[in-house]
Amino acid sequence: MRLLSALLLLLLLRSTEPRKGGRNRERGRARGKGRANAVKRQTSECKEYMEAGEKYLDCQDRQLTGVQQHWPEDIHHLLLARNKIQVLRDNTFSQFKNLKSLDLQQNELYMVEEEAFAGLGQLTTLLLQHNQMKTASEEHLLPLPNLRYLRLYDNPWDCRCSLDSLVRTLQVPSNRNLGNYAKCSEPDALRGQKLKKMRPELLCAEDGEGHLPGQKPQEGQGSLPKPPPIKKYPDANSLCHTYMFPKPMLDCKSKELKNIPSSLPSDIVRMDLSSNNITQLRPKEFVAARDLKLLNLSSNSLDQIDTAAFAGLLYLRELDLSNNSLHYFQYGVLEDLYFLRMLNLGDNPWVCDYNIHYLIYWLKHHPGVAYSGLICTEPQEFRGWPVENYVKTYNGECPKDKDPQLGKGDTGQGQTAQVLVAETEEAEMELLPKPLRDPRPKKYEVTRLT
Ligand SMILES: *[C@@H]1O[C@H](CO)[C@@H](O)[C@H](O)[C@H]1NC(C)=O
Ligand SMILES: *[C@@H]1O[C@H](CO)[C@@H](O)[C@H](O)[C@H]1NC(C)=O
Ligand SMILES: *[C@@H]1O[C@H](CO)[C@@H](O)[C@H](O)[C@H]1NC(C)=O
Repeated sequence: MRLLSALLLLLLLRSTEPRKGGRNRERGRARGKGRANAVKRQTSECKEYMEAGEKYLDCQDRQLTGVQQHWPEDIHHLLLARNKIQVLRDNTFSQFKNLKSLDLQQNELYMVEEEAFAGLGQLTTLLLQHNQMKTASEEHLLPLPNLRYLRLYDNPWDCRCSLDSLVRTLQVPSNRNLGNYAKCSEPDALRGQKLKKMRPELLCAEDGEGHLPGQKPQEGQGSLPKPPPIKKYPDANSLCHTYMFPKPMLDCKSKELKNIPSSLPSDIVRMDLSSNNITQLRPKEFVAARDLKLLNLSSNSLDQIDTAAFAGLLYLRELDLSNNSLHYFQYGVLEDLYFLRMLNLGDNPWVCDYNIHYLIYWLKHHPGVAYSGLICTEPQEFRGWPVENYVKTYNGECPKDKDPQLGKGDTGQGQTAQVLVAETEEAEMELLPKPLRDPRPKKYEVTRLT
């Protein structure tokens, strides 16, 4: 009966929506034009702004306990992360007909009525992670025909009968991005099972508590739900916070991490791992996050980076390694970073001996990469020197640097980049010093170059 009425409501909404939606859009556009570039205005503490033609209302971190009546209705994105919302009543958002994304993560939600999201026919993204929800049902999702992205993890899901319809909906193959990573927290027998993967028959197996499928969640009941179980391995999705707008970002800052967390989401563009206690990067730690453009590892305790640590980060543009314990880079560490543009290396105890040459060599052949903070700390005689200067003195008697003719030939303006890289790589690999048994090995190598 309930299902039937919900379906009817859905049909009704759909039949009225196109006209309303159209009108709203026109109104939005007209208003947008009128205000031209006046993109910011204050809405009772919330920030309203335009980006790429869409309207955002940013009400994050404001101690809010609910939606306020006077918020503008023509927004596309509503950011409510890190407030104190506990309950969502029916039709809470129905005035926001254009809404495409709704971010409710890191609130205290424990009760969401079944029609809470009614009217959100355009919604594609709903973020409910890091809340206190124990149950929900298919009915919650019925008003959201365009939903493509639903995050539910880090809620203490109670995997009993009342969760049955939701779990079955999440498991429909076409709902690929709905509810990934969410896990049962109760009953004990099912704790840790993923809602996406579990056998739904188990939900109603040990019922005996009078729950019926689709039943409305119980109000509060006075007792707060138990916190989720402590995870054995650090998992990016429970430890860190994900933000979808304006850019998909994983925020793992200051989480006392000792390692790169497991199961990195594949769609993030920025990742902040700064201010942790990560000491080494192992091979292929980031391959899952192949869209990454910014990786911030500053203020960790990194002293070792595997040659293949950055494998797969084809699109990485900015890498912040500042304030770590790096002495040098192993040969090959940077070879996967085709599109790197910024490399922050400051506040590391760079050691100016033969091991540092690879870094300078790589930077020299990637002039598009802006870097900073490459200063020798050891040995004493070079302390405070820019590392490039140290390397220059090392190669000081190299005729290539002295003779402009030879120099020109070597940097080969006319050749294609490919050939150039291949050639210089070969030549300069020989220039890279070998362990210094011979106090002046460079003479031999210089001869070979010319
Ligand atoms: C980092 O980890 C090391 C060893 O595990 C420990 O000795 C050190 O105190 C930690 N540092 C911080 C800032 O937590
Ligand atoms: C990395 O994080 C640190 C500390 O959180 C911050 O100061 C720095 O600006 C960040 N680097 C980049 C490139 O965003
Ligand atoms: C550098 O990292 C240490 C911890 O490793 C931290 O205490 C310190 O504040 C950081 N410095 C800066 C400038 O971020």
